[in-house]
Parts: sequence; C-alpha cells; structure tokens
Amino acid sequence: MYFEIGIVNFDTNSATMTVQENYSLKKFNTFGIDAYSRYFATFNTVEQLKELLSDNKLGQTERLILGGGSNILFTKNFDGITLKNNLKGIEIVKEDTNHYYIKAAAGEVWHEFVMHCVNNNYAGLENLSLIPGCVGASPMQNIGAYGVEIKDSFFELEALHIADKTIQTFNNADCKFGYRESVFKRELKNQFIILSVTYRLNKTANFNTSYGAIEKELETMGIKELNIQAISKAVCNIRSSKLPNPAEIGNAGSFFKNPEVSRHKYESLKVSFPTIVGYELENGNVKLAAGWLIEQCGWKGKTLGDAGVHKLQALVLVNYANAKGKEIYDLSQQIMDSVKEKYGVELEREVNIL
Ligand code: FAD
Ligand code: EPU
Repeated sequence: MYFEIGIVNFDTNSATMTVQENYSLKKFNTFGIDAYSRYFATFNTVEQLKELLSDNKLGQTERLILGGGSNILFTKNFDGITLKNNLKGIEIVKEDTNHYYIKAAAGEVWHEFVMHCVNNNYAGLENLSLIPGCVGASPMQNIGAYGVEIKDSFFELEALHIADKTIQTFNNADCKFGYRESVFKRELKNQFIILSVTYRLNKTANFNTSYGAIEKELETMGIKELNIQAISKAVCNIRSSKLPNPAEIGNAGSFFKNPEVSRHKYESLKVSFPTIVGYELENGNVKLAAGWLIEQCGWKGKTLGDAGVHKLQALVLVNYANAKGKEIYDLSQQIMDSVKEKYGVELEREVNIL
C-alpha cells in the first residue's frame, strides 16, 4: 500500500482509491454550496475506509463522513478529509414468522432501498419514501415523515469506531432515538462511522395512514384496496407537490425542527394567536408547526440575495442560485430571532452546520 497527497492512487487489496486535494463539494451537497474540502476520497469497502483512517498524513486531519449531503450546510471550506461513503449491498440476513431482517450497506441510496422493500412487500418503510440521502445517515437523526420514524422498524446497525477501528453493533435502545435525534448526534458525535443498518420489516403490513394528507391522496388516486405500494406512491405524490426538488432548487428539507413547548405555553400562545398549529405529544407537551410560526412572521417566499425561504413551505430554506452557506445561515438566524421575538419560542436547526 502506498499513498501520497495530490491526485494520487491509493492502492488497496480491493481497488484503487484516489485522494483529491482542494476539492469542490458543490455536487455533493443538496444546497449546492460551492465549499471546498482540503482532501476528498470515496471508499467502496471497509478495508479502504480503515486504510484512509490509518494513513499518517490524513489521520491527523478532521473527518467528515458524507452520504448524500442532504442534511448539511457548509458555511465555510472544510479543512480536513471528506470521506464519501460508497458501501453497497442489500441482503436478507434473517427471517422469522412475522419479519424479514434486511441489512443495507450505508452507501445505498435511501429511496432505492425503500423501493426495494416496497416492491418485495417488506412492510414498514413505505411512509419514508422519497427522503433524500443514504441508508447510513438514516439513524443519525432517526429520519421521519408521514407518521413514521425509522426507530419503528430499526433492528441494529454496525459502525466503525474511528479511534480503535473496531466494528461495534448498536441495537435500537443503544441508539437513543428521539425526534430527529440519536446518540450519534450527541454523546457519540464524530466517533463512529455507520457501515450498515438492519431493518426488521413486516411480512404483514400495518398500514399507517394517520397523516391526513395520505388518506386524501389515496382517495384522489382511486385506491380501493390498501397496499404498501399505494402508500409509497401517495407519499411520493404529496412530497413532490410540497417540497422543492434539490436537483432544481438547492435545499436540505426542513431547516428547523418543530419546537416542543409546554401545554401551558401553548395555551397562552393560543389566546393571542388562535390559529396557531400544534400537535399534542404523549408527554403532555405540544409540538408547534415551525412552518406556521415562520410564515406568520412574514418569511414565506422571501429572498435575501440568492438565499430564500421556499414559497410553498416556510420550513425549507433554499439556494436559488449561488448563495453562500453563510448567507443561508444568516437568514436562518434572522428567522430564529423573529420567531423568538414574536412568540417567545426558540427554534433549533435540524440541518448539520459545518
Ligand atoms: P448527509 O447530509 O450526507 O449527512 C448528514 C449527517 O450525518 C452529517 O453529519 C454526516 O457527517 C453524518 N453521516 C452521514 N453518513 C454517515 C455515516 N455512514 N456514518 C456516520 N455519520 C454519517 N429528513 C427527514 O427526517 N424527514 C424528511 O421528510 C426529510 N425530507 C427531506 C426533503 C428534502 C428535499 C431534503 C433535501 C432533505 C430531507 N430530509 C428529511 C433530510 C435528509 O434527507 C435526511 O436527514 C437524510 O437522512 C440525510 O442523509 P444523507 O446521506 O444525505 O446525509
Ligand atoms: N405550515 C404552515 N406554513 C408553512 C408550512 C407549514 O402554516 O409554510 C403548517 C401547516 O399548518 C401544516 C403544518 O405546518 O399543516 C405541518 O406542515 P407539514 O405537514 O408540511 O409538515 P412539517 O411540520 O412542515 C414535517 C417534517 C418533514 C416531514 C413532514 C411530513 C420536521 C422538522 N419536518 O414537516 O421532514 O417530511 O413533516 O411528515 O419535523 C425534514 O426533516 O427535512 C422534513 C422535510
């Protein structure tokens, strides 16, 4: 094995890798921000990844593990090595009376994985159709949509411990999943690289159409007999009508989380703002629709240079052309300040800021 910085081959047993220097990440983040990474390499095998991590020169620099780049905002160049995950493979690893256990490598595209499951009647992920990104990032923030989160069918994952290069297994409880949260975003941040995720999917579907818009869309589609293919299609239709396609307008989905407030706070807000949108949680608190708060502050459809707030979904910040990451970040700060001033509610960014 040999290795030199520049545009150089990095020989491993399995393939030849190239480490690029001063590399544009524009095509690797859905905001389309033209930030540069000091070094950049794609890994196709765990062996290649371990070798990149062990290299003397690269070993000291900061690392960024990149999937589809659909939940990242680059506010500056990255002075380290970006490791683009290209681990591939999907297999059934186990089966019992009611379930298939499907293991997918972290570099698999999430939506393609979901479609593989939907087409084979492995039920549980159909509501999560069309979420951008890769399988490896799905546990990072416990991705969720249309009444379902991955924690509902997550079985386990394998991850490489960066410091000692051991591969460790995390079960559902180990991951400490919450709303757009996991242990990998908190206590174990930057310590593990997720290699594969195993989902436990149902042989008999438990249809989840609790999100009102799904029922309505199924009706429009003329579906008489419910099945997971129809639910997946309905979710894709709704998403395409509401969310900007990153291939056309740069964005990273919801920029903020929906904030949780006490019932008391919600009741007092409701007195002053009777149309405020909130959903009751099991713990007694109320989750407010951040999109509503932002729209009511007058931000929907606003632009500041090339940065803006989407005209159909105020929770989505967009790059209309050549916005800098810093401009989008500054816009997000202005939004947070105005929501705080009008409603006394703190918004928290969902997107990872670099
Ligand atoms: P990246 O953006 O590449 O990475 C995200 C974070 O995870 C980074 O910190 C990165 O370092 C880390 N990471 C990535 N892979 C690994 C790995 N293998 N090991 C360790 N760390 C890793 N999210 C939802 O939850 N629900 C939605 O409905 C939703 N809708 C969206 C709609 C649009 C149009 C867009 C653009 C985004 C949306 N998102 C949604 C956000 C995003 O799609 C998800 O967060 C997705 O899981 C990110 O995957 P990714 O591979 O692009 O991650
Ligand atoms: N709303 C407005 N104005 C807006 C947007 C929303 O008033 O501009 C209000 C509406 O009343 C609407 C409510 O907010 O009924 C909720 O809106 P929507 O159903 O579009 O969902 P959301 O809360 O904006 C969340 C997730 C999405 C996920 C959808 C569907 C978060 C932060 N966002 O959006 O996830 O796809 O629900 O389940 O939880 C993401 O995380 O990137 C993401 C897109």
